[in-house]
Amino acid sequence: MTSAVGVGFGKVILLGEHAVVYGYPALAAALPQGVTLVAALQPGDRGAHGLRLTLELESWRLAVDTAALPEHPVSQALCAIAAELVKGWGGDAPSWSGGAVRLHGTAEIWPSAGLGSSAALAVAAARALGALAGRALDDAAVRAAASAGERVFHGQPSGLDVALATSGGAGVFERQGGLVPLPLPRLGLVIGHSGAPRSTAAMVARVAERTAGDRDDVRLRELGQATARGLSAVAARDLPALGAAMDAAHGQLAALGVSTDRLDEMCALARGAGALGAKLTGAGGGGCAIALVPPGASALAAAIEAAWQLRGLDTRRVELGAG
Ligand code: PMV
Repeated sequence: MTSAVGVGFGKVILLGEHAVVYGYPALAAALPQGVTLVAALQPGDRGAHGLRLTLELESWRLAVDTAALPEHPVSQALCAIAAELVKGWGGDAPSWSGGAVRLHGTAEIWPSAGLGSSAALAVAAARALGALAGRALDDAAVRAAASAGERVFHGQPSGLDVALATSGGAGVFERQGGLVPLPLPRLGLVIGHSGAPRSTAAMVARVAERTAGDRDDVRLRELGQATARGLSAVAARDLPALGAAMDAAHGQLAALGVSTDRLDEMCALARGAGALGAKLTGAGGGGCAIALVPPGASALAAAIEAAWQLRGLDTRRVELGAG
């Protein structure tokens, strides 16, 4: 095989970011959009020191060459992914291991915005490299390889992003037990980008500092309770109750210092336009806000988009869940 394709999904956290780091459950869903990569062997272009990987993702203006920029975090993540794959094959080196591979493709989610972009990239790369080697990778092998890449970006991620980027669908994630699939009722989300980049590691560190790492911190407990109410709402297919839990979660995330004036304003605008609930999603400090709307409520979704776009923000709509 001289070329192969791999896909990883983006994700949105409906409830439970940050608390999940302390062992509370989080409710999250994969986005239909993500990252698609084609891996192609570059014959004759052998790396001077073993495998050479290049990555081009035009939509993120990202171009990396592990030989030219070995210190670049994306280079290090790609090398970690490849090394973990080879380790999983018991050191049985694939055809590409001493040569050069070009990864190129498309990304349909914003980078560094709380939508799991790095996990989607890592999963797509793991799948494309596995397929290029002609090896069948099960989800556990994909997660192991992609997590090696995610650790380069995020230190000690909870694993939520990689789990959803791999499996798609929706579920309840716990650090100990991993992802348990949970069908969502049909719902609409409007996603808006605050325009500010953010760092997951910095926001996780801020929460650790504000809570002194104490799982029983009242704000973390309240976040856990909001998630519990949200899970009951999902079971009862009660979207207004889910929206109320999202509003409460945003308040606690703000109290933990991970919201911004812009994210607070976006949530207020969405609620003012009639959203069932609104909150930041992901690590915060920038990135995205989400607003919950009933399925098919296109006039309401358009009103929320208009309110955000009037502030110069990028928006998009997704419909999640089934039946
Ligand atoms: O912003 P993202 O997509 O990196 O999500 C971070 C979610 C956190 O709960 C803040 C951290 C984690 O590892 O789960």
